Amino acid sequence: MIKTGNISFSYIEFDTTDELEPGDLKLVKAARESALNAYAPYSKFRVGAAVLLASGKIIRGANVENAAFPSGICAERNAISNSISNHFNDNPVAISIAGMTENGLTDNPVTPCGNCRQVLAEEEARTGNKIKIILSGKNKTIIIESIGCLLPLQFDKNNLKIDLR
Ligand code: THU
Repeated sequence: MIKTGNISFSYIEFDTTDELEPGDLKLVKAARESALNAYAPYSKFRVGAAVLLASGKIIRGANVENAAFPSGICAERNAISNSISNHFNDNPVAISIAGMTENGLTDNPVTPCGNCRQVLAEEEARTGNKIKIILSGKNKTIIIESIGCLLPLQFDKNNLKIDLR
């Protein structure tokens, strides 16, 4: 028998950051500031990420590139690695991402790459908490309720048929 399926998700879009809730705006500002600390001499594309933990702490990350290109790492994975390494039991509840070219903040929101989606999805699975995704450009901010929306049909530990806990 042949079946069909459909996957869709909802998101909220804002024209200006003035319309954001204060907590979300704070996280957007932290991501934008964090992008200023990127080391991106090769792409000249600076990305900042800010992870909000359940305690209210904000953990930042920026992309760090390398002359051996694949050794570079994205802002999102730097931020989430930092939060897991230093605050293992303080679960991430949201992440904000912002990108900058040499002309400043991107007009449109930067969306996380596939590797980062996979890592964020694993963090949702590890903690059992949804991580709200706040993607912010100069002219548009998008809020998505969970990284699961951006990575449907994901590969996870169930595919390995082992229990890592
Ligand atoms: N990058 C990020 O840090 N996060 C993303 O979501 C997309 C891409 C970085 C990787 C590389 O240093 C630069 O942006 C250009 O791809």
